[in-house]
Amino acid sequence: MRILVVGGGGREHALVWKLGQHPDIEVLACAPGNAGISGLAWCLDIGASEIETLAQYAEKTSVDLTVVGPEEPLTMGIVDLFRERGLTVFGATKAAAELEGSKVFAKNLMKKYGIPTADFEVFDDRKAAESFVKKKGAPLVVKADGLAAGKGVIVCDTEAEALEALDKIMTRKAFGDAGKRVVIEDKLVGEEASFLAFTDGETVVPMPSSQDHKPIFEGDRGPNTGGMGAYSPAPVVSPELEARIMEEVMIPTVRAMAQEGRPYEGVLYAGLMIRDGRFQVLEFNARFGDPEAQPLLMRLETDLVDIMTAVNDHRLKDLDIQWNPSPSVCVVMASGGYPGKYDKGKVISGLEGVSRMKDVMVFHAGTEFDEFGRYMTSGGRVLGVTSRGESVSAALDTCYRAVNQISWDECYFRRDIAQKALTDR
Ligand code: AMP
Ligand code: GLY
Repeated sequence: MRILVVGGGGREHALVWKLGQHPDIEVLACAPGNAGISGLAWCLDIGASEIETLAQYAEKTSVDLTVVGPEEPLTMGIVDLFRERGLTVFGATKAAAELEGSKVFAKNLMKKYGIPTADFEVFDDRKAAESFVKKKGAPLVVKADGLAAGKGVIVCDTEAEALEALDKIMTRKAFGDAGKRVVIEDKLVGEEASFLAFTDGETVVPMPSSQDHKPIFEGDRGPNTGGMGAYSPAPVVSPELEARIMEEVMIPTVRAMAQEGRPYEGVLYAGLMIRDGRFQVLEFNARFGDPEAQPLLMRLETDLVDIMTAVNDHRLKDLDIQWNPSPSVCVVMASGGYPGKYDKGKVISGLEGVSRMKDVMVFHAGTEFDEFGRYMTSGGRVLGVTSRGESVSAALDTCYRAVNQISWDECYFRRDIAQKALTDR
């Protein structure tokens, strides 16, 4: 079987690692991949959003299955393009990926179908948005409608912050056209969790719950990042809550998308805010989360190629997907200064020792080889050190033992990943 993975971050390293365990792999390629991925797959010099070039590669080399990691190619229509060319691809179509690509679309869908989410208004006019903020008062959350690399959401605790957010998004156009429209919604409080499911458009199969750590500093302080760590399961999602999330969010969303003429296939990700047994949807993503994919895929026991093929063939209901009950934790190691300015090109040491550790995987995100073939940093998030253990504390112990062996000049990581999973509920 010939498989192509699109993307080049920690999520894609985990996807390549898991897909590569299929018993019948002839070719495993990744575009663009990274230095870590190149140990498992042939890395192509094609960007994840160069969808036409990717389709040409897949046609020319007879790829049997393409798996799309990031949101941008999905919202650009990579799945539609591949299918037009008769190529098999796992992911949401352009019309389905709008659930992530437009917050206005997602919020209106939730309102129409009674899926729990914060009250909101949509504005394309700065003046009208401003009057609304003044009338409503803080706290509020201002969101750019389109994709903004995870930076388009501004949680505002004062009216002044909300007005500044409108200025940034609508007047200074910090996110370009993604900020032509904004959603202004109520600020929710509680604990966040990520809830992902595989779906073939009819059957919806939940993955175990997980939790991301978005802020850069310990104690969830400081600016948001792409994610500084994750773990699975998230104890905040009790079995009772999981059943309700399926009944009230995941299944109704897949049904709603079908009803709207946008059948949803692939991975559906709901970001939830949970408090006192109640939950509301913060956002949908049309793909695996990064870094949630790393701990989730480390727990997945069923062959991922089989799952993706079952999704594509609309026979997910026939599959019994198995997960390892042991919890898994991922600590992201980042370049000092991230998510602001940071240096690249730092040589990473300690990887070889860690590669011999049991139950540890180091998934690479921003890495390249230097001219001597050594791993060096090439991005903000550099590594996702992921481990599994009998308990969260055992997994954490192993994870931080690994993290402490790896270093480079000005490397940074949070020391409190998964602490929330250890506190009594
Ligand atoms: P999103 O991309 O919509 O998930 O937003 C990114 C982050 O902003 C979320 O993970 C939350 O931490 C925060 N956020 C989004 N919407 C709200 C809300 N209504 N209330 C509080 N925090 C929010
Ligand atoms: N971990 C959040 C995301 O992938 O969007």
